[in-house]
Amino acid sequence: MDERINKELLTFIEKSPTAWHAVKNLAESLREEGYTELREEEAWPLKPGARCFVRRNSSSLLAFRIPEETPAGFMMMAAHADSPCLRLKELATAEAAGLYARVPVERYGGMILSTWLDRPLSVAGRLVVREGDKLVERLVDLQRDVALIPNVAIHMDRSVNEGKAFDLKTDMLPLIGSGTSAESFRRLIADAAGTTEKDICSAELQFYPRTSGTIWGAEGEYVSAPRLDDLQCVFACAQGFLAASESGSIPVFCCFDNEEVGSSTRQGAAADFLSRTLARIAAGLGCELPRLLAQSFLVSADNAHAVHPNHPEYADAVDRPAMNKGIVLKFNAAQRYVTDAVSAAVFREICRRAEVPVQSYTNRADLPGGSTLGNISLAQVAVRSLDIGLAQLAMHSSYETAGTLDTSWLCRAAAHFFASSLHVEGETITIRDGRNKA
Ligand code: CO
Repeated sequence: MDERINKELLTFIEKSPTAWHAVKNLAESLREEGYTELREEEAWPLKPGARCFVRRNSSSLLAFRIPEETPAGFMMMAAHADSPCLRLKELATAEAAGLYARVPVERYGGMILSTWLDRPLSVAGRLVVREGDKLVERLVDLQRDVALIPNVAIHMDRSVNEGKAFDLKTDMLPLIGSGTSAESFRRLIADAAGTTEKDICSAELQFYPRTSGTIWGAEGEYVSAPRLDDLQCVFACAQGFLAASESGSIPVFCCFDNEEVGSSTRQGAAADFLSRTLARIAAGLGCELPRLLAQSFLVSADNAHAVHPNHPEYADAVDRPAMNKGIVLKFNAAQRYVTDAVSAAVFREICRRAEVPVQSYTNRADLPGGSTLGNISLAQVAVRSLDIGLAQLAMHSSYETAGTLDTSWLCRAAAHFFASSLHVEGETITIRDGRNKA
């Protein structure tokens, strides 16, 4: 297993408690590699050789390179930077209930609530602050243990090990201190944002678990951390995007927000962020968008379920994805996953050339499963697509587990993918790679 790349993954996860922070960190890496930020409200000067990225809502990001020659199409990989969590109600005032101060929360996404108990939590997110006559966005991350949701002792609830229903408004209130600490809590947030309480106009804040990531197992097989779904894919696709050699296509790395709540936001995969960006690139290069799209490919990378060690019965009888056995291609007859024979063949061929193993996943036939970015973005950008992911355990727990080898494999497959271009002639597809453009 590649310890270095997994340690880099854990650093990225630790620095990215929210989608805003993940996107900020991606933007910094891109700038270091010579990428220029474009803004949706400005004109885009796109020249051959340009390396650019654009953000929307500070929480979704698209990065791309313009090739020197006329491009064949777009080679895109998409992942999501948001994760299920507890959100503070806007500008929450900590509510003093006699002995204790607690914070009212809402659920963001489908989380396993029990995994948020008895863990140190911190707060991060985005504020809008007043600066003179301007309203300015500020990211904030307290980066310290500031809250905890305590379990009820077994002596008080003898049925606690027999399955428990959690009520968000009572069971899941994070404790932030004694009855007098509400004011201190608000001041902490203002201080962390370098502003004053009265200049905070609004806030989107969330609790995040402070438990550090770790690489473990008898042979270092596993990596565990919060938010592996889907920061493991975000990280690996970004690494591959930055490492890829030039191809005759336009590589596009997509990082979306709000997948965990259905993607139907201004910055989600269901919005026009990607389609508008592709249209602007095509127009800037004087290319016909439909012709580019006909030779384009989208890989939606979102983690997949590994067979569970204690509950193998939840997995399909035939497709049994395991951690460290390679990239998982997801299939679904109802097309909640968009993989079809053509897209699977293209991606398998790229992985074969990259010497990366692949496996396949279908939901157990009587379980509906989840959907992901692939079929959502298709509504806006209808190109050949497939859904992939890395096999993991405990999806949507506050602490998830995946395979260390798989991280390296997705980095490698992504680098090969972004260095490839697709050439379509009717029912025949030729995949050319950067070293072999002819
Ligand atoms: Co996901």
